[in-house]
Amino acid sequence: MSDTTPPRFAGRTALVTGAASGIGAAVARRLVVEGASVVAVDIAADALAQLAVDLGDACAPVIADVTDEDAVAAAVTAAVQRFGGLDLAFNVAGSSRYGAVTDLAVEDWDFTVDLVQKAVFLCVKHQARQLVAQGRGGAIVNVASLNAHIPMVGGSPYSTGKAGVEMFSKNAALELAPAGIRVNAVLPGLIDTPLVAPVLGYEPAKDLFLERIPLRRPGSPDEVAGPCLYLASDDAAYITGTSLVIDGGWEISNYADLSNLGTA
Ligand SMILES: NC(=O)c1ccc[n+]([C@@H]2O[C@H](COP(=O)([O-])OP(=O)(O)OC[C@H]3O[C@@H](n4cnc5c(N)ncnc54)[C@H](O)[C@@H]3O)[C@@H](O)[C@H]2O)c1
Repeated sequence: MSDTTPPRFAGRTALVTGAASGIGAAVARRLVVEGASVVAVDIAADALAQLAVDLGDACAPVIADVTDEDAVAAAVTAAVQRFGGLDLAFNVAGSSRYGAVTDLAVEDWDFTVDLVQKAVFLCVKHQARQLVAQGRGGAIVNVASLNAHIPMVGGSPYSTGKAGVEMFSKNAALELAPAGIRVNAVLPGLIDTPLVAPVLGYEPAKDLFLERIPLRRPGSPDEVAGPCLYLASDDAAYITGTSLVIDGGWEISNYADLSNLGTA
């Protein structure tokens, strides 16, 4: 790439949910570094304001709850009003409540599934409407989780919701392909963000996780942001309806660890 080559997202507008922290913040920051304008959506007003200060004119912060359809629609409208349209979307916002299947309150199930699954539907619905209306295609990346494939004790609403995100992404990819809109999902494993601080801050729990991960460390938010941007980039122009697992090899390690037994 010569010095005069424009950054790969120059002239593109991206909407990022969950942009105030962790993976979403890393995605938003890298997009701006790589030339995009970013509508940064989150409910965490203070952290979002700080991100906007850091990113300057390339960032339009929008305080919105992604489970609220009107708020989601307004965030898309903000992209059009501030930057003239929308090209890319990254649906990252998420969190979870936990509990055993036998104890879990309906409110905790609804909170989690609404946030991790229904909100992705609402976001894609309104983002895709805008992309279809513009008629120039686009790309959407939804953040699911390795828990879409691997269950977690106490995490049934999260795992179920994330599995739904993976299939929803494939379904949306199928429906939106004629409009030139690509939809893919990423499935992160253990990533060092505030969401998993309780795990990483408690050595016995951390050790249990790390012994499952062949690379023996959590990933960084930037190590998820990079693959997200790749899937949204022109290098991935022929990739749609797929899932990219970003887990340090966690998913392939479900067999007993025989490495200390030797080969004899
Ligand atoms: N960290 C991990 O190990 C990991 C692993 C797999 C998947 N994920 C997924 O990655 C995504 C990002 O998580 P993270 O680890 O960066 O967590 P994080 O807590 O650092 O960031 C999540 C962000 O989402 C925002 N958010 C929560 N509810 C919202 C709502 N209703 N409306 C708008 N914004 C809302 C939060 O304010 C926060 O800024 C989530 O979907 C999470 O499930 C994370």
